Amino acid sequence: MSLNIVYEGSLYPSLVHSEESLRFAREEFQVRDEDVFIATYPKSGTTWMQEILPLVYSKGDLTPVQTIPNWQRVPWLEQKSGKALLENRPSPRLITTHLPYHLMPKSFYTSKAKVVYVTRNPKDALVSSFHYHNMASFLENPGTFEEFIQRFLEGKVMFGSWFDHIKSWWPRKGQDNLLFLTYEEMLQDMRGALVKLGEFLGKQLSDDAIEAIAKQSKFDNMKRNDMSNYSFVPEELMDQKKNNFLRKGISGDWKSHFTAAQTEHFNSIYAEKMKGLNFPFYEG
Ligand code: A3P
Repeated sequence: MSLNIVYEGSLYPSLVHSEESLRFAREEFQVRDEDVFIATYPKSGTTWMQEILPLVYSKGDLTPVQTIPNWQRVPWLEQKSGKALLENRPSPRLITTHLPYHLMPKSFYTSKAKVVYVTRNPKDALVSSFHYHNMASFLENPGTFEEFIQRFLEGKVMFGSWFDHIKSWWPRKGQDNLLFLTYEEMLQDMRGALVKLGEFLGKQLSDDAIEAIAKQSKFDNMKRNDMSNYSFVPEELMDQKKNNFLRKGISGDWKSHFTAAQTEHFNSIYAEKMKGLNFPFYEG
């Protein structure tokens, strides 16, 4: 069996996606006004937000993140398990997606559902993805780092091009139902990010709640949380002896991977592809 399926021109890991699951997400899934989506390009802080969002809803009570695995507490819409986990779930449903804006469920566009879009420096997402491909047997061998950079720039990686993902979501900035957060701002100022999230979601968070959420969602605490660190996934699928899923949790790790020539090449393609988008992050 091939490790990927192709859907609308992009690759999706076939272990957890099928044509049927992707078609269900697009055509059949009924979005409700109370739904809240986490939307990300892979390796940009999805798992992190899957920790944070349930804690915002529980107002800092740790029970959901200590008792429910992340893929159940904020299930992926487009995965094979999405339909069973989400269709009959009471509102408010917290839902994860890696889909670009234009492939969201058809019922999404006329709904009041909210979306928290987390973005990350693409060079760091690339590095994270490279290591992930090396430890996950259900993903293709990434080849050399040089080869992987090329594949990433061409969008021949899971969920397609980083650039296309951003270009599909970013122009919607300013819509009331959409909040953009960056991985880097969450690292620098989690309390500030939590205040933004609370306001966006209409959830009043006390100082104690903010404190509890910020603490629980720290990298080291999540790494210890079996409900969030993927330690239940068999070693044949994810070999966490090679790399932990929660690997480093820093920004700027690309600097210890990219050569000067690779940086220059990446930056020139970045400048070309992002021209005119008015997207303020990650130049240089
Ligand atoms: P690294 O491989 O650079 O460490 P996703 O969940 O979208 O797949 O993204 C995974 C990346 O987010 C990994 O990056 C992971 O370590 C990082 N991450 C997850 N939780 C984090 C946290 N609490 N703080 C910082 N980074 C975190």
